[in-house]
Amino acid sequence: MSRFIDKVAIITGAAGGIGSAAARRLVAEGARVMLVDLDESALQELSTELGSATRWCRADVSNADDCQNYLQQTLDNWEKLDVLLANAGIEGVVKPLHEYPNEIFNKVMQVNVHGVWNALQQAMPVMAKTGGGSIVITSSVAGLQGAAGMSAYVTSKHAVVGLMRSAAIEGAPHNVRVNTVNPAPIETRMMRSLEREMSAENPEAVHDQLGQAIPFGRYGSAEEVASMLLYLGSEDSSYCTGGTYTVDGAMSSG
Ligand SMILES: NC(=O)c1ccc[n+]([C@@H]2O[C@H](COP(=O)([O-])OP(=O)(O)OC[C@H]3O[C@@H](n4cnc5c(N)ncnc54)[C@H](O)[C@@H]3O)[C@@H](O)[C@H]2O)c1
Repeated sequence: MSRFIDKVAIITGAAGGIGSAAARRLVAEGARVMLVDLDESALQELSTELGSATRWCRADVSNADDCQNYLQQTLDNWEKLDVLLANAGIEGVVKPLHEYPNEIFNKVMQVNVHGVWNALQQAMPVMAKTGGGSIVITSSVAGLQGAAGMSAYVTSKHAVVGLMRSAAIEGAPHNVRVNTVNPAPIETRMMRSLEREMSAENPEAVHDQLGQAIPFGRYGSAEEVASMLLYLGSEDSSYCTGGTYTVDGAMSSG
């Protein structure tokens, strides 16, 4: 498929599992892609792998000036923006609410919510000026249901669903579509970290238990999430806006 020929995309969290899978797919389908992340060496490596269709920009998504910088660099290179995957995120720690450290709660909200807020606030007017575009926010099944020990992450992933719904209504008259993707556990660094948090002695057992609790009997892959990100980013989903799109092996159906 070549749905992204002549399209310009930004991916935040591009150096991570889901972001890099989406970057590979976008480039394969013809897009020019600005790779954004905190991890400079991983960005460099990915950009070298993907070649001249990519540029990279180190940024902390929670910082509005950094957001302005990655957006400006995209426009300086390619003069427009068609697709924004607001995907950067952190997991926080696993602790009951009454023990959850306030500073970690704040950090998770800064990155997962304020990072998306910055991107929406600054990218929507740019897209509106050039005829529209598609913004996809990586939320989670944790944006649709609660989870013990994960209060900050769950709060942040619910919050971006609210942001998405408001942005979709505001963006509609300008042909700016906004949706969330809501994945179940996916085989990336983030789940390895959470599995260790849940059981330092036997993280593999946590992986197996969590996988078996999903009706499909397994975690998803980053490529399975990337498929949905690209569908929502492309014109294939031209009437889809304001929606939550699960990629979860029926996890949230129970
Ligand atoms: N892995 C899962 O099970 C899962 C499930 C549902 C949703 N998600 C969401 O998917 C998104 C991608 O996660 P992933 O699984 O690829 O994890 P990951 O840890 O592999 O990737 C996350 C990336 O975000 C980057 N990042 C973190 N803080 C940042 C900041 N302040 N500014 C810029 N970049 C920053 C990290 O450097 C990393 O490269 C996240 O929003 C996550 O919450 C993941």
